[in-house]
Amino acid sequence: MSHIDIEAAVNVGYQAAKATSGGQNANYIPFLASVPSDLLGVAVVTTSGEVFKVGDADYQFAIESISKVFTLALVMEAIGPVAVREKIGADPTGLPFNSVIALELHNGKPLSPLVNAGAIATASLVPGNDADAIWAAIKDAQSRFAGRTIALSPDVNSSEQATNFHNRAIAWLLYSAGACYSDPMQAVDVYTRQCSTLVSTIDLAMMGATLASGGVNPVTGTRVIKAANVAPILAEMMMEGLYTASGDWAYTVGLPGKSGVGGGILAVVPGKLAIAAFSPPLDPVGNSVRGQVAVAKVAEQLGLNLF
Ligand code: DON
Repeated sequence: MSHIDIEAAVNVGYQAAKATSGGQNANYIPFLASVPSDLLGVAVVTTSGEVFKVGDADYQFAIESISKVFTLALVMEAIGPVAVREKIGADPTGLPFNSVIALELHNGKPLSPLVNAGAIATASLVPGNDADAIWAAIKDAQSRFAGRTIALSPDVNSSEQATNFHNRAIAWLLYSAGACYSDPMQAVDVYTRQCSTLVSTIDLAMMGATLASGGVNPVTGTRVIKAANVAPILAEMMMEGLYTASGDWAYTVGLPGKSGVGGGILAVVPGKLAIAAFSPPLDPVGNSVRGQVAVAKVAEQLGLNLF
């Protein structure tokens, strides 16, 4: 894969996404409804730290569910993959990302750290004495993956903290089943903050490239997580990263991915690179309509399907 190939693929992905319409901004979080719908960014970062970008790739948006990957990485480091699988799980739920039914069907076990229930359980496992210490560790993990200081958006956070009743209910259900490992309202508070940081498409691609390069940020050279912890994280992304569309994504694109209701989407190609895109309108599952097209097209152009 030459420079020119990647640059051309990023442009083809951008154009394909630009020619795609449909979807709606997330409207259950007031801040997200207000982001301009026509923004579109695409970026690739390679494991040697080269950055390719087109469109609104510098625009900063709410990371939302993509944060679940990086808090999972922190907990993977703290308790190891065996305990993560035992306490949270590694299977798709087959149900929407905020499903309560999925919990009820499995004795309160969330199955995946990449749905809300599992992500709240994951947040409850981050070591720290209080919410601020835990939050500092999560923010630091996001920053080390991105290679720059990632910050909370007070606007996104207050918009989410004022409307996260469903997630609070999920946390109490987890707690009653013995699957929340801290005070449940503290876990939701921290989880909500982790969703409320601002990243650009380039940041997302850099965060993904850190996974692609075995846990080392390709630009700063900092080891962020152990190489041995990367594979289980990518496995979780393959199983549930795009919610109920994860199977279709594996079938058609063949890469571990993760989306967020802010319109961001990320795919990781181990040993090579990461592809990210941003476009706010979502399909009914909660994945960016244009973002999926852009990432899929870049992957197709470069022949990156792992299977
Ligand atoms: O928990 C929530 O509802 C949001 N803060 C994040 C959810 C999310 O991004 C799910 N996405 N597709």
